[in-house]
Amino acid sequence: PRIAVIVVAAGSGTRLGAEAPKALVGLGRHTILRHALHNVFAAPTAQVVIVAPAGREGDALTDAEAAGPRELITVVTGGATRQESVAAGLAALWADIEVVLVHDAARALTPPDVFERVIAAVDATGWGAVPVLPVVDTIKRVDDTAIVEGVDRSELAAAQTPQGFRRDILVDAYRAAHEDYTDDAAVVAASGHRVGTVEGDARAFKITTPADLERARQLVGEPLR
Ligand code: CTP
Ligand code: MG
Repeated sequence: PRIAVIVVAAGSGTRLGAEAPKALVGLGRHTILRHALHNVFAAPTAQVVIVAPAGREGDALTDAEAAGPRELITVVTGGATRQESVAAGLAALWADIEVVLVHDAARALTPPDVFERVIAAVDATGWGAVPVLPVVDTIKRVDDTAIVEGVDRSELAAAQTPQGFRRDILVDAYRAAHEDYTDDAAVVAASGHRVGTVEGDARAFKITTPADLERARQLVGEPLR
């Protein structure tokens, strides 16, 4: 299939608390966005749509051109929420795209084989596919002051990106969505479609806090073995 990757990079990074929007913050020699795009371009993608912070579209394009071929790149301006940013990316897809992966720029160190597993699963099943990791902590349902009950973590998984879908299913689901969902799998599930899982990767963690950025810096600074 003809595959596009939408890289959402328009968030401000409130929890990171840097001067620049999070995707444009430095991580070793390059930005978070350029690291993310390096892995995106390793996948067999026909189009890469970068959803940039308003006013920083030119910086996003510079990063993209350093990471991959110009003729594959589209840059659009993001919205106020992640969901609006994804919708802006969907509106920029070329006519012949059949499968869409949506990826957080903030998951900058996601290895290429996670992209491969997601693409293979969408191909084999026609369902959506989401990389997941088992939950390692003991999870409690709580109220303001106390534990309400324990939750069986064997039934839980942590969802990562890239999340892949058939284009028609994803576009219809976004058109139908009338509340705010935290990921694309939730939007697609709400529209009544099945979403499968593939194995995630610890290196696909989302850079959210300063401690996450420090962890990413250490991973970039040393070869992964
Ligand atoms: N994102 C986006 N547009 C938004 C909000 C988020 O494109 N309006 C993107 C971010 O750039 C990021 C991904 O969605 O790559 C996941 O969001 P998150 O980690 O929450 O990033 P921010 O929203 O920027 O961070 P924070 O919530 O701390 O402000
Ligand atoms: Mg956010």
